[in-house]
Amino acid sequence: MEHKILLRESDIPRQWYNLAADLPTPLLPPLGPDGKPVTPDMLAPVFPMNLIEQEVCTQRWVDIPEDVLNILYRWRPAPLRRAVYLEKHLKTPARIYYKDESTSPPGSHKPNTAVAQAYYNKVAGITRLTTETGAGQWGSALAFACSLLGLECKVYMVRISFDQKPFRKLMMQVWGARCVASPSSETNAGRKILAEMPDTPGSLGIAISEAIEAAVTDPTRKTRYSLGSVLNHVLLHQTIIGLEAKKQLEMAGEKLPDIVIGCAGGGSNFAGLAFPFTADKINGAQIDIIPVEPEACPTMTRAPFAYDHGDTACMTPLLAMHTLGHAFVPPPIHAGGLRYHGMAPLVCQAIVEGLFTPRAYHQSKCYESALTWAKTEGTICAPETSHAIAATIDEAIKAREEGKEKVILFNYSGHGLMDLSGYDKFMSGQLTDYELPEDMLQRYTKDLDKLPKAPMRKSGRW
Ligand SMILES: Cc1ncc(COP(=O)(O)O)c(C=O)c1O
Repeated sequence: MEHKILLRESDIPRQWYNLAADLPTPLLPPLGPDGKPVTPDMLAPVFPMNLIEQEVCTQRWVDIPEDVLNILYRWRPAPLRRAVYLEKHLKTPARIYYKDESTSPPGSHKPNTAVAQAYYNKVAGITRLTTETGAGQWGSALAFACSLLGLECKVYMVRISFDQKPFRKLMMQVWGARCVASPSSETNAGRKILAEMPDTPGSLGIAISEAIEAAVTDPTRKTRYSLGSVLNHVLLHQTIIGLEAKKQLEMAGEKLPDIVIGCAGGGSNFAGLAFPFTADKINGAQIDIIPVEPEACPTMTRAPFAYDHGDTACMTPLLAMHTLGHAFVPPPIHAGGLRYHGMAPLVCQAIVEGLFTPRAYHQSKCYESALTWAKTEGTICAPETSHAIAATIDEAIKAREEGKEKVILFNYSGHGLMDLSGYDKFMSGQLTDYELPEDMLQRYTKDLDKLPKAPMRKSGRW
């Protein structure tokens, strides 16, 4: 039995997988302010046309450019590891495998798309990218990619994480990016929110508004915006994770996994691992596919499926997704990357189709699982990743109780070496759990009724 299953560089996947080609019902289109589907031209001030083409692409397979692979080889193919020490500790008959995305230079799955996006922008003649970041993983990934491709990078970092995670900001600076706390006084959106709520901890929705405004108002028109999750092209770039994992499971002598798990903030690392296996599920395989979110930000488990903006200032098109409302300001839990009010439309549509079974956990349970992980497998995971580990442990215990030899596969989306303040709070008993009160959920989502309605599923067709 191997502890780690490694692919040769020559076995790296050369195409990304697009779930949009195989969903039982076509993906609902993004809508403009007039309620009509947006056209590629309307997105052109925000994204380069080559990425817009990927956003609306319905082809099943998309070639990965050789120049992108040449950068990814720095850490890809990433290892698939077997969590034998955790299995032993839990006395489970389950075989637990995890895809180790923490081995990238910035420490998470985020560079898989950061590199691709920086590449496509560069090819389109763009010289500068703006973006938002929550925990700082995405901002540091884009800073890393921009530095390798010779682009300027400006990052709006959610205030609470900017204060809690100074080292992520320093990483961005090492890679040559400029990082400011959001809301900032550098954009109209930021100034307006600061005037209304000077002490706000910030949110991804606010930071996205700032980053988009900074891109579309650049008089040179050489700046575009880059998003680290949610959008179809971002999820597409992440499917290299699941495609590698499929080959590696085969090398380990496994057929398909019984259970696939990933934490989900905007949905990209979960989708990256899960989508290639979702294709098997659509074709009849029995696989439980579980995206995991925090109870404090229960987008998939409690929020309605509706059209909503992706940002607080309503600059983005309307996306059909599970949403807590674009004005939602999440409590300052430590998994900063899981505090987004929405969720990737591709993930949400697959949930409505019954392909995924989302679940939510409190952060104290997740930190407890992270400590069990650190004391068995040895690595210190990101607070976001701990949600996937908590679900994995629950499923492994269930397999023990049922006496079943299940194969569990999860995504180890990143390391937590820059996130130790959350561990500190947990270990010193200062971490509190937070469940979103129902009346607050109702308040944040009540205005969704004023936006165009997402049709509900009827006999397999929207
Ligand atoms: C390590 C890690 N895992 C997961 C996430 C959640 O994002 P997504 O759902 O897009 O994978 C983040 C976001 O910052 C992250 O840094």
